[in-house]
Amino acid sequence: MVPILDLKREYLELKNEIDAALERVLTSGGFVGGPEVAALEAELSEFLQVPHVVTCGSGTDALFIALRAMGVGPGDAVITSPFTFIATIEAIQHAGAIPVLVDIDPQTFNLNPALLEAALTPRTRAILPVHLYGQVAPMQEILSLAQKHGLKVLEDAAQAIGARYCASDCKRLLGKGCDGAHPQAGTLGDAGAFSLYPTKNLGAYGDAGFIATRSEQVAEESRLLAAHGSRVRYHHVRPAGYTSRLDALQAAILRAKLPHLESWNSRRRQIAQIYTEGMKNRVQTPCEMPYALHIYHQYTVRHPERDRLAAHLKDRGVGSSIHYPVPAHLQPAYRDLAPKGSLPAAEAAAREVLSLPMHPFLEELQVEAVVRAVQGYA
Ligand SMILES: Cc1ncc(COP(=O)(O)O)c(C=O)c1O
Repeated sequence: MVPILDLKREYLELKNEIDAALERVLTSGGFVGGPEVAALEAELSEFLQVPHVVTCGSGTDALFIALRAMGVGPGDAVITSPFTFIATIEAIQHAGAIPVLVDIDPQTFNLNPALLEAALTPRTRAILPVHLYGQVAPMQEILSLAQKHGLKVLEDAAQAIGARYCASDCKRLLGKGCDGAHPQAGTLGDAGAFSLYPTKNLGAYGDAGFIATRSEQVAEESRLLAAHGSRVRYHHVRPAGYTSRLDALQAAILRAKLPHLESWNSRRRQIAQIYTEGMKNRVQTPCEMPYALHIYHQYTVRHPERDRLAAHLKDRGVGSSIHYPVPAHLQPAYRDLAPKGSLPAAEAAAREVLSLPMHPFLEELQVEAVVRAVQGYA
């Protein structure tokens, strides 16, 4: 059996480090915020090369807190992708704004930059690109459009911690001689929202998330909102704040894992390369854009008979999953966002995508078994 993910295996690999981290917190008597959380924020800042990191309760919280902190609110429209986890859409609504859906590029599954300008209205306040599956959206086009029209940009980097972007089209990112100085996903726009949900490339053992930003003001405002609108306990300077804090146990676990993230992401890329070589004649394999260092949060292929392929894999003991089977505007809760047929690339992707087993602890034999199972699909 090759499961799509194996979190137990990950824990066993890191057992000593994680157990020591847990004991450190349990014996400290401090469970919410405190030095572990402050240290994690500093370490994430260093990792992402961004001056401010504000941890919070989840990636969903990070999205709507960041939107509010940027000044997005009632009456505003925020452009985003219909082909995402629903939290992206929910966050826009939690901020009081209206989601405006723009279709995706069928190659990358990210926002199609050619369609963005036509979606702008006088109410448009922000663009919220999603770096789906771990590949950065076309940020150069998005940022220049935002600059031209005075819009904010919040990156949904929930799936993209450690992914990088090659600005100025140097196109060396994936080639020899890359100096590695390319900016991290989630640090390109006004802010980035990250999820640390257990299944993510850097996952806590519960819900967790954070906001990364170069703006002191967005960081300060996010910190206020996440802590009941208060800087000083029992003194509240912002209305409608939240309890969105990271607990010390999660911070300690994440601190034990963070030093491994780069090598885990490299291993994911290595597995992706083997998958792509081994199955590109059978399925449509992921398209790596020259401007993006993909970190394969998901390795997602396309096939017109997706459900039959998934059943075939299951019969051979290979797990798979669909990210995502229904685009936002076809969900019962969101039918008012756009009519069926109006976002054809997202609708087709939802019918055809299939994510294969992907995590850094996959063994060679398991990787081979996945390739063989896909190859065996007639
Ligand atoms: C693209 C995307 N956005 C937002 C989220 C929300 O993150 P969380 O589950 O931590 O709230 C996720 C997590 O699944 C996601 O994949």
